[in-house]
Amino acid sequence: MTSFMRTTTTFVSGARTLPGEYYCAPEVLAEETETLFRERWLWVARAERVAKPGDYFLYEKFGESIIVLRDKSGTLRAFYNVCRHRGTRMCEAASGHFSGSIQCPYHAWTYSTDGRLIGAPHMQDAEGFDKSDYPLHAAPVQEWEGFIFVSLSDDPVPFADAFAPVLDRLARFNLDRLVTVERREYDVKANWKLILQNYNECLHCPTIHPELSRVLPYQSGANDLHEGEQLGGYMEITQPNQSATSDGLACGVPIGTLDADEQRRAFYYTFFPNMMLSVHPDYVNYYSVWPVDAQRSIVVTEWLQHPDSVGTETWSPKGAIEFWDTVNRQDWHICELSQLGVASRVYRPGPFSPLESIPAAWDRAYLAAMGR
Ligand code: FES
Ligand SMILES: [Fe+2]
Repeated sequence: MTSFMRTTTTFVSGARTLPGEYYCAPEVLAEETETLFRERWLWVARAERVAKPGDYFLYEKFGESIIVLRDKSGTLRAFYNVCRHRGTRMCEAASGHFSGSIQCPYHAWTYSTDGRLIGAPHMQDAEGFDKSDYPLHAAPVQEWEGFIFVSLSDDPVPFADAFAPVLDRLARFNLDRLVTVERREYDVKANWKLILQNYNECLHCPTIHPELSRVLPYQSGANDLHEGEQLGGYMEITQPNQSATSDGLACGVPIGTLDADEQRRAFYYTFFPNMMLSVHPDYVNYYSVWPVDAQRSIVVTEWLQHPDSVGTETWSPKGAIEFWDTVNRQDWHICELSQLGVASRVYRPGPFSPLESIPAAWDRAYLAAMGR
């Protein structure tokens, strides 16, 4: 941990943007890594990636490798990819299937899919050795609405407390039933927070998003989560558009049991720290933003649809994928320009407008989470 920020900033209010070091200083990212990314629940994948008992994938971020798997009985689990014998990294493949057990490639210590040590060659001759003393180190893991969250903390805030404002709020969208129809990754030369802050307002939409503005007027809708770690609200889809797609047509069946108003709305939420969830009547797209360094991020995004859409004659996910690919690239570009500007010696925090109340609230949540 560093005390760098505490000694160099007097910023306390969310009414202005953050000082430049928050976007540029490796020391700040190091502190964020300890305080946020290794502490919080982070969204790592859809549950369908471990659909069957024995399926696993590796979640490798912030200096750790975690095996996320479904055990033999169907329970979702996460274990540090660290052998209890001499510490070796056991799994190398990014995803796969354990047929029965997990075996370390070094001296063949073997673990059940629920983490128990079940085989340790020649250790029966070691005095006082008891296999039950050496299970794999478990990591907290949680499934919510078909999304898997993992924490690198030994003792995170209970998931239900951390996500209380949204736990039941999205139930009508049947998010747990949706299937992934596309995945893309973008390399953005901007601090991770600039990407979250960009998502949190549409003041920029008339200037940089002509395609989006035709479908989603930037002053439409309302926010229903104004303060705290989950923020956002909805926008109105303008008639005659059916959805936010490149041709304005729905690209699949409705994802949930939506009333007439909600069939013309799109919901946009950020989940602190690094997740963004967009819910449209006929598809969902979601993002996770991962810092590479203080001034560069990887954005992983997936599109989800109702399983009844997939493969039918009217199924056209391309309309949603192309629409957001275009809009996202416009956003990444402006975030990169923003990064270049905030890195300048002359940059000073600037004032937020009333249409930027959500990024201002996000900054407040961020500063509180960082203990400022
Ligand atoms: S280090 Fe894993 S079995 Fe020896
Ligand atoms: Fe945008």
